[in-house]
Amino acid sequence: MSDKRFVLTNPDDQSSVELPLISGSVGPSAVDIGALYKKHGIFTYDPGFVSTASCSSAITYIDGEQGILLYRGYPVEQLAEKSSFLEVTYLLLKGELPTKPELESFTHTIQYHTMIKETLKYFFRGFHHDAHPMSMLSSVVSSLSAFYHDTTDIYDPVDRDMFAWRIIAKMPTIAAAAYKHNIGQPFIYPRNDLDYCSNLLHMFFSVPAEPYQIDPVAAEALDLLFILHADHEQNASTSTVRLAGSSGTNPYAAIAAGISALWGPAHGGANEAVLEMLAEIGSVKEIDKYIARAKDKNDSFRLMGFGHRVYKNYDPRAKIIRQMCHKVLEKLGKQDDPLLELALRLEEIALKDDYFVEKKLYPNVDFYSGIIYKALGIPTNMFTVMFAIARSVGWVAHWQEMLSDPAMRIGRPRQVYTGAPHRDYQPISKR
Ligand code: CMC
Repeated sequence: MSDKRFVLTNPDDQSSVELPLISGSVGPSAVDIGALYKKHGIFTYDPGFVSTASCSSAITYIDGEQGILLYRGYPVEQLAEKSSFLEVTYLLLKGELPTKPELESFTHTIQYHTMIKETLKYFFRGFHHDAHPMSMLSSVVSSLSAFYHDTTDIYDPVDRDMFAWRIIAKMPTIAAAAYKHNIGQPFIYPRNDLDYCSNLLHMFFSVPAEPYQIDPVAAEALDLLFILHADHEQNASTSTVRLAGSSGTNPYAAIAAGISALWGPAHGGANEAVLEMLAEIGSVKEIDKYIARAKDKNDSFRLMGFGHRVYKNYDPRAKIIRQMCHKVLEKLGKQDDPLLELALRLEEIALKDDYFVEKKLYPNVDFYSGIIYKALGIPTNMFTVMFAIARSVGWVAHWQEMLSDPAMRIGRPRQVYTGAPHRDYQPISKR
C-alpha cells in the first residue's frame, strides 16, 4: 500500500473521504474502497466491473493499451515460441518455470491421472446423442466431486494439489468422451506414453478397429493454442470460479461454474460463433452487408471474434494465432481454405472501417482459433470445449491463489436497489 490517498468529496456537505491507493508491480493503481460503506454508508457502482479490481493476483498481467500479455512475468510470445503447454501449466500453477526433473515429474503426475472412473463413462449414456459438448463437460466435471469426495478438503494443500492434477489431466479425457458420445463411437482410453496434446488427438480420433497415426503438426498446433488460452486474468469464467470457490464449495463445482460462464458467445463461445458467422457470410462479396449490420445499433448482430473488454490494441494472442494459421493450413495442405480467405478479407475490411477503428475493435484470440481447430478436424461445437481444456489451468491456478490469500472472503457484491420502497401486503380482494 502506498502513502498516496485518493480523495472523494461528498456533494451534500462537501466533506472529504481519503481512500488508500494500492499499487501492484506494474499497471494502474487501485483505490481501496473496502471501508467505504462501513465508514461512510456509500457503495460504488460499476456494472460489468469495468474499473474494479476484484482481487490482487500474481499470475497474469495484461496491458490492454499496449497489447501485452505476461504469464508470471514472461511474455506470451516467448512462451508460445519456446515452451510447451505442460511447462506453461507448471509455471502458472507454481509461479516459476520448472527445472528438467521438476517438469519430468510434473508431466508424469499429469499423465498418471488421465483416466476417469469406469462408472463415470455410464454417466454419458444419460445424455441425448446430440447434447452440446459444453453441457456434457460442465455436468461431468461437476459430477467429479461425487467420485473424488475423499480429496475435496479445500484447506488441505495436498488435496488442493491432487484436485489440480486431476482436473488438468482429466479434462481432455472427458472432452473426448463427450465428442465420442456425439458421434456414437466407443470411448478411447488415454495413452500415458503420449504427450498431452497427442493423447488428446488419440482419444478424439482413434477407433478400436484400426490404427491411428497422430499428426505431429496437429499436436504442435494444439499445444500452441492451449498455451495462448491457458490464462487471461480476471475474465468472466475465472471470476466465476473465484466467486463460486469463495463460498468454500468443492473445487469441481467451482470449475463447472467456470465452464458454464465460458460457454457464452461474448466469452469462450465466440470461437464457435466466429465459424458460424463465417459460414453465414458465405462469400467475400457479402462482407459489406455484414459489416453494415454490425454497425447498426438496431441490429443485435456483432462481428464475432472482434473487440475485447481489455485489449484496445491488437490482441497479442490473435497476432500469434494469425501467423500460425497460415503455417498450419500450409502444413496440412489446406492453405486454400475458403474460410481463411474470407476471414482475412473480413479482417482487412473491418480494420479500415471508421466504426471499428474509432472503437478500437481488433480481432481477438477467437477470430482465428476456430479456423485452425476446423483444419484439425475438430467439429465446431467442440471449439469452446478446447478452450475450456486449456483454461482449466488458469481456473485452477486462480482458485489455488485465492485460497492461499489471507485477504480471501466470500465474494458478495452489493447493488443499487431500484425496486418499490416498503409497502404493505394487500389481500387479493383489494388489488
Ligand atoms: N461488433 C460490433 N460492434 C462491437 C463489437 C463487435 N464485435 N464489439 C464491441 N462493439 C461495439 C459496441 O456496440 C459498443 O458500441 P457503443 O459504444 O456505440 O455502444 C462498443 O463497441 C463497446 O462495446 P462493449 O460491448 O461495451 O464492450 P465490452 O467490453 O462490454 O465487450 C466484448 C467486449 C468482447 C464482449 C465485445 O467486444 C463482443 O461482444 N465481441 C464479440 C464477441 C467476441 O468475440 N468475444 C470473444 C472475446 S475474446 C475471448 C475471451 O477472452 O473470452
